[in-house]
Amino acid sequence: MKLNIAVLPGDGIGPEIVEEALKVTRAVCQKYGHELHEETALVGACAIDAVGDPYPQGTHDLCMRSDAVLFGAIGSPKYDNDPTAKVRPEQGLLAMRKKLGLYANVRPVTVFPSLVDRSPLKADLVRDADFVCIRELTGGLYFGKPQGRSEDGNSAVDTCVYSREEIERILKLAYDFAGRRRKKLTVVDKANVLETSRLWRQIAQEMAPNYPDVETDFLFVDNAAMRLIQWPASFDVMVTENMFGDILTDEASVITGSLGLLPSASVGLHTSVFEPIHGSYPQAAGKNIANPLATVLSAAMMFEYAFGLAKEGALIREAVSASLDAGFVTEDIAVDGLKPRSTSEVGDWLVQYIQG
Ligand code: IPM
Ligand code: MN
Repeated sequence: MKLNIAVLPGDGIGPEIVEEALKVTRAVCQKYGHELHEETALVGACAIDAVGDPYPQGTHDLCMRSDAVLFGAIGSPKYDNDPTAKVRPEQGLLAMRKKLGLYANVRPVTVFPSLVDRSPLKADLVRDADFVCIRELTGGLYFGKPQGRSEDGNSAVDTCVYSREEIERILKLAYDFAGRRRKKLTVVDKANVLETSRLWRQIAQEMAPNYPDVETDFLFVDNAAMRLIQWPASFDVMVTENMFGDILTDEASVITGSLGLLPSASVGLHTSVFEPIHGSYPQAAGKNIANPLATVLSAAMMFEYAFGLAKEGALIREAVSASLDAGFVTEDIAVDGLKPRSTSEVGDWLVQYIQG
């Protein structure tokens, strides 16, 4: 099969982790006889520095004509510490999501058996945790208008907007996921306070009878945040709006032992994007210490979701599990006397496993 992928390494540790995911992708393509075509483009702070735009038109054109996008991370302390900056790296990511119509961000949370003791939670609580968080990605507070500052700069507004159409399409996708898994959908909202949440809940209640084999339940987001810690194994598929999903998935990621382990797929109307859920970790940039596994696992999702290549994805997951079992890991999970390995050493290990 011919795989045309756009590679957007971005900022911070982005280039390092994407390189390892690419090494793994190339090894898998070689093994299974696929023809891989990669083209790289700028996004984020590096794109602002180079051309003044965090999501340049050329990058968008490349994404549109590719079969899948492998994305690293964006963000830079230069902008984080300057709340008045007019152009920000994050705008590049948001523009990409909006222009590619990526309304659903699929974030699977799986606990690797060899890492249960790395979790800040008791091993017994996390052992059976295995759920998918489906985050709405192109609506809500991230995109609502009006947004901005008053003329004197002393008041600010963000608006949360959701339409029926936006809610229905993400719920449909979430129901389909739940139907293929353990058939339990948890809709997370704040319907006791927010009108948008009441619309979400109303629409979910209308749709539920169409999915009789799926059990639908509702949780307020504050309660969901608590339940994630208290009883993570109680979830199967969770669906929620953009901002709640952003926050809950960072919380969910630590259950697995490291933020550096969670992959994601953003899917919707055009080309899908595969990216780790973590950020650009600027403190580690250029040091060859960041955990590449979230990006490597995102590449596995790319094989499965964008190309329907299940065996290829499974081989990557197997290699990742084997590296964890072997204790061949980066410093974020190298405890109990394990020698911390570099980003590229972990990538090399995975490639060897795949070739083996
Ligand atoms: C994520 C990130 C982004 C988000 C940032 C970088 C804009 O945190 O993908 O979760 O908030 O969506
Ligand atoms: Mn986030």
